[in-house]
Amino acid sequence: MKLLSVVGARPNFMKIAPLVAAVARHNAARPGAAVRHVLVHSGQHYDPALSTRFFEELGIPDPDYHLEVGSGSHAYQVGQTMIEFEKVMLAEAPDWVIVVGDVNATCACSITAKKHQFRVAHIEAGLRSNDWAMPEEINRVVTDRLSDLLFTTCRFANENLAAEGVAPERVAMVGNIMIDTLATQRVKAATHEPNAILRDNRHAGLPLPDGVVLERDGFGVLTLHRPSNVDDPATLRRNLDLMFELAERLPIVFPVHPRTMGRFKDFGLWQRLAESRRILVVEPVGYLDMLALTMNARMVLTDSGGIQEECCIVGTPCLTLRANTERPATLAENGGTNHLVGMDPDRVRDAFAAALAAARRPFSPPLWDGHTADRILAELLRRG
Ligand code: UD1
Repeated sequence: MKLLSVVGARPNFMKIAPLVAAVARHNAARPGAAVRHVLVHSGQHYDPALSTRFFEELGIPDPDYHLEVGSGSHAYQVGQTMIEFEKVMLAEAPDWVIVVGDVNATCACSITAKKHQFRVAHIEAGLRSNDWAMPEEINRVVTDRLSDLLFTTCRFANENLAAEGVAPERVAMVGNIMIDTLATQRVKAATHEPNAILRDNRHAGLPLPDGVVLERDGFGVLTLHRPSNVDDPATLRRNLDLMFELAERLPIVFPVHPRTMGRFKDFGLWQRLAESRRILVVEPVGYLDMLALTMNARMVLTDSGGIQEECCIVGTPCLTLRANTERPATLAENGGTNHLVGMDPDRVRDAFAAALAAARRPFSPPLWDGHTADRILAELLRRG
């Protein structure tokens, strides 16, 4: 059997590493029945800090193909990925095209594959924010509509797919493949020390303020990159004011995504951040450093998707700075550590105060057990 997997942006890499490893284990155990796994990188994320570093840390081999699509509008990224991926796919003629998550490559390659009648399997299918302003929601819906096999992480995803009329035989609930990566890497991450992370990743040219010491459970971690939070100057200024207010009570480590860094500079907000002793700006950090920060933090404040899930597993309170989440399995009302607070100042302040007082409470939804990739490969092999 030949699998052709596609990754494009940072959140994809931790979702493909376990499948690469599962195929290697399978092939080592059954040399006569080798699965060939061809890996394609669309090139949406190209900075070493957003791409190569993750391949190295997670032991993912160099991609067999690099499409070098790069930055651009959504139409450009999707269109260019389709054009370049089509050539690779026709040359490789795989049994399955595997797409993961919800980035532009996920959508582009599922369309390309179905146009040529290749079977598509989507890992992390069925998640819905029901927010059509998110490009990721469009990618999820299009990909799921086209996919032959939908690998889901949780019952909520199965319910979403059932409500959309997806036949049950197309759906396999296998758990969360990203948690396979967390399970593999958490011992190594535990050796990464927060103060060393801060020192080694401090944004270029910025000194470390005197006397800053990060204690376990004594700091917060912030990530912010959704267009809805960072692309409008007034919104970004308001969000930042709120973060400065909270940081008076808890120092906050802030790995800044390149998109957000660009906005800070464009909107004249960068100087204040750079000089802050309470919000500690660092470059985008690698997987192990981010996991180490999450494991040691009092709380995480984020508009990311996957970080909500990682917080849940390691038990760190998570304040999700968005109006909606496609990951309800992580929410406190469903047993997790995640609180959907949006950017309303009063809700954020209340949840922040509660999180300051909350105990660390790890929670694993069913099948988030580190063995998802094996289940995925078994299901693919079963279907041939
Ligand atoms: C993409 C994903 C998003 C994911 C995020 C994580 C889609 C629709 N969005 O959003 O789901 O949460 O990645 O990082 O696929 N840039 C660099 N270096 C890079 C790549 C980008 O500096 O290697 C800058 C460019 O200025 C670019 C901007 O970041 O314009 C945004 O990058 P882009 O890939 O368009 O989207 P993300 O916001 O990263």
